[in-house]
Amino acid sequence: MKFFIDTANLDEIKQASELGLLDGVTTNPTLLSREVERTGMKPNDVLKKICEMVNGPISAEVVSLESDGMVKEAEKLSEIAKNICIKVPITKEGIKATRKIVDKGIMVNMTLIFSVNQALLAAKAGATFISPFIGRLDDIAHIGMDLVEDIMVVFENYNFSTEVIVASIRHPLHVVEAALIGADISTIPFTVIDKMFKHPLTDIGIERFLADWKKVQNK
Ligand code: E4P
Repeated sequence: MKFFIDTANLDEIKQASELGLLDGVTTNPTLLSREVERTGMKPNDVLKKICEMVNGPISAEVVSLESDGMVKEAEKLSEIAKNICIKVPITKEGIKATRKIVDKGIMVNMTLIFSVNQALLAAKAGATFISPFIGRLDDIAHIGMDLVEDIMVVFENYNFSTEVIVASIRHPLHVVEAALIGADISTIPFTVIDKMFKHPLTDIGIERFLADWKKVQNK
């Protein structure tokens, strides 16, 4: 499974990339505006920095609602770096734009996917990635991971090359479930990556080994 980090925070991306496990980054207008406010940097400068830090697809989202505007934004964003991937919402206009953007050789991550039909439309439009939002479905008492499971079956049935990014991850169990299903990618918030390392028995184990080793240090 590939690991993306779901943030635009440059400090978090730096820390996560130092682990050597990062395959990409996903941002959205909320995450990017947060980083712009935090650093005072321009949005495109933040994106450029991220593209330099991580060798993999860096999702940057369009904000136009009609396809021509989306395509124009995609062209501009793709000038930032080769690894920019354009995040496009799943709407009729978004679908029209996706084909045009992909035909220009630019990656598309079709976002805000909440149903199998939407995933199917995105794959047929040639999206490079789709992002089903699991946590937001869980929030309204639907089992988000069931959607990922169904999408994986449909994509396998038809050999779609579109990769599934499990998004809106809220806790480490979401990552486990995504991995058991065989999802291609999880895009994980920094706090959740941090929690994935933790196990009390690991901490106790290290403590005991060090204590035992200390006993024989003067021998
Ligand atoms: C995905 O690409 C989105 O940026 C993200 O996962 C949304 O997650 P949220 O529901 O926690 O905002």
